[in-house]
Amino acid sequence: MFKVLSYSFMPCPNFLKPRASFKVQKDAIGTRTLLNVQKDAIVCGTRTKVARNPNMERLPNNYLFPEIEARQLEHEKKYPDAQVISLGIGDTTEPIPDVITKTMSDYALSLSTLEGYSGYGAEQGNKALRLAIAQKLYPDLAVKDTEVFVSDGSQCDISRIQLLLGSKVTVAVQDPSFPAYIDSSVIIGQASDLQPTTGKYQNIEYMKCVPQNNFFPDLSNASRTDVIFFCSPNNPTGHAASREQLEQLVEFARENGSIIVYDTAYAAYITDKSPRSIYEIPGAREVAIEVSSFSKSAGFTGVRLGWTVVPEELLYSDGFPVVHDYNRIMCTCFNGASNIAQAGGLECLSTEGVRALCSKVDYYKENAQILLDTFSSLGLKAYGGVNAPYVWVHFPGRRSWDVFSEILQKTDIITVPGCGFGPGGEEFIRVGAFGHRETILEASTRLKSLFL
Ligand SMILES: Cc1ncc(COP(=O)(O)O)c(C=O)c1O
Repeated sequence: MFKVLSYSFMPCPNFLKPRASFKVQKDAIGTRTLLNVQKDAIVCGTRTKVARNPNMERLPNNYLFPEIEARQLEHEKKYPDAQVISLGIGDTTEPIPDVITKTMSDYALSLSTLEGYSGYGAEQGNKALRLAIAQKLYPDLAVKDTEVFVSDGSQCDISRIQLLLGSKVTVAVQDPSFPAYIDSSVIIGQASDLQPTTGKYQNIEYMKCVPQNNFFPDLSNASRTDVIFFCSPNNPTGHAASREQLEQLVEFARENGSIIVYDTAYAAYITDKSPRSIYEIPGAREVAIEVSSFSKSAGFTGVRLGWTVVPEELLYSDGFPVVHDYNRIMCTCFNGASNIAQAGGLECLSTEGVRALCSKVDYYKENAQILLDTFSSLGLKAYGGVNAPYVWVHFPGRRSWDVFSEILQKTDIITVPGCGFGPGGEEFIRVGAFGHRETILEASTRLKSLFL
């Protein structure tokens, strides 16, 4: 019934270091999951008397990127001459504009001087940066600098928001969605067990977003939850929600008394009239927190800088302002973003910085267009790519892991199987537009030869 392959990522150099070991399990209908058998692998060393957090045990077994990496390693072992191109992980590839790195480098050097040295900064972020984010990224939207909390990135903010909300709230996500929402839900204890038949966690509301509903959930059939994670432009589908769709979402949250956690990590890629912020929708300030990032616009995936907006009007059921609790979380569980990164963030928002960032974003969008054209020329339906650096390609009737394997086998290109983003991603693959132009062009040539 099950075909089991084994991968061991690293040798066990000493008995204190557990051996990370995974098995790929394939079920009767071909769905492959990566089983973390690390628990079974730990046989040596002295054990503590501390029980493993059951929420951690409940985390997805099919950890997507290690399995992709394992498959890439397997492929490279089999074909040592293969020139593998990765269009998988959503990491930026182009250098940070030098106007920004120069500012960071000057700032770093000034830390070696008596006049320039500074230690801890404000936990909420440097005042000038909070103000610049409020004024330049939310013009006319009444966002105050005191509602902006600068951080080390939006993924970290998502976890801190989960800490803020606690284990008792109910949660909805788009299906497919960026895995951090569900994983952090499981870790904090909001989810029950994963249902093997559906690939869904009990207690989590999966709001299907597919081409048939224009990648926007059917809210008339969605259950009420306390919290709704919503990402636009979306990772992985690349869809940016329209104003009308967001009006529906805000109305739904207001009717149900829910909080939307709105992720705009890719807002800089929006080309059309889709809103860049949830606060463009009237009434959103009473129901939405917004998380965002410099990662995908400034190439700060390694520098680490993001922010979260918590409006003063957002209140708990007892009338207490959420912003006070979020401030407490930031002061307790975070201690302020790197001052060097914040100096860079401020430069990103200068006139010259914005111009430099736009040209990087345009570069990735041109890559996306090349990929979109490639898939369209092959007669495949490809979505996204216009307002996001991701192209979401449909292979009707096929398992996404099978498509992933076929593309890898025949073109040496790594993609991401859509089912890794939730059951709603089955039949799709995500193709990332991050990459040097010549790599994207080479990928396009190989893909065309595969399908023609
Ligand atoms: C939708 C979405 N949100 C957040 C993040 C994480 O961003 P950051 O680098 O700011 O942690 C990513 C990264 O890929 C993402 O795709």
